[in-house]
Amino acid sequence: MAPIISIRNLTKTYSNGFQALKGIDLDIERGEILALLGPNGAGKTTMISIVCGIANPSGGSVIVGGHDVVTEFRATRAMIGLVPQELTTDLFETVWNTVSFSRGLHGKKPNPAHIERVLRDLSLWDKKDNMLRQLSGGMKRRVLIAKALSHEPEILFLDEPTAGVDVTLRKDMWHVVERLRANGVTIILTTHYIEEAEEIADRVGVINGGRLLLVEEKKALMAKLGRKQLILDLAEPLEAVPPCLDGNGLSLGPNGTTLIYDFDAEHEQSSIAVLLSRLSAEGIHFKDLSTRQSSLEDIFVSLVGESK
Ligand SMILES: Nc1ncnc2c1ncn2[C@@H]1O[C@H](COP(=O)(O)OP(=O)(O)OP(=O)(O)O)[C@@H](O)[C@H]1O
Ligand SMILES: [Mg+2]
Repeated sequence: MAPIISIRNLTKTYSNGFQALKGIDLDIERGEILALLGPNGAGKTTMISIVCGIANPSGGSVIVGGHDVVTEFRATRAMIGLVPQELTTDLFETVWNTVSFSRGLHGKKPNPAHIERVLRDLSLWDKKDNMLRQLSGGMKRRVLIAKALSHEPEILFLDEPTAGVDVTLRKDMWHVVERLRANGVTIILTTHYIEEAEEIADRVGVINGGRLLLVEEKKALMAKLGRKQLILDLAEPLEAVPPCLDGNGLSLGPNGTTLIYDFDAEHEQSSIAVLLSRLSAEGIHFKDLSTRQSSLEDIFVSLVGESK
């Protein structure tokens, strides 16, 4: 099946001459959840704004559902819901009116039952008659999500939806996202909470300096780049790694009380067994052992660090 979003050699140079995107190529499949990670200023919001038709590309093309985002803006915009990073909403309007009006803006007929469902899903129902200025920051964020869902989009962009949001609300939001995914909605989100991407995304893209450094299935990425560590709590501290075991991915932890063995999770077969028997032959005993797998965060930090 053709990708629902197809981005080719996308560039963006702002009017002050700053080049925010330097040739992005990306296909997004229907129904997937793609997390875009990248440091501040990487170009995430710029890219999203172009796909949503609120900023113009300087070069390249973006096709959404078979339509060009520049020449067929109305068709592509109707397919997309955007939860923007910045709050941009009339504070003197009620929740109900704001969300209903947003549906109308996208050319959809009124559907109070749908609006009610969206507000209930986001725990905003009891605030529906409140003006936005009467809501807390986290509730205003929920209103942005409700607006983005008001016209039943096939594609949802969430640009840092959980920045500054408490843990409970964040969990609520991810339940909503999961329900949307179950209904076939394609979801692209940016986040600085990498554990969020780790939990929820099918694929992960990393952007830095206007370039897409990689985009890959999350599981494959973690298997490929992820390292594993075996950590042994020693019965007696060591001053150094014994020479006969040196050069085998072993290092000592603080105070020499732990021995850390770095290994490649994909290719590990029998080296742990060999290591343990050699330690025992050396008279090195341990009280406890545990393993640790590197997280998406470790992978992200090392990728972004390398690309500087
Ligand atoms: N209107 C503008 N004019 C000039 N430069 C801009 C404009 N908007 C953004 N930029 C620059 O483009 C770069 C990318 O910005 P963008 O907002 O896309 O980053 P981001 O990845 O979304 O960052 P964050 O994680 O902080 O939201 C930044 O260096 C920013 O200063
Ligand atoms: Mg941004």
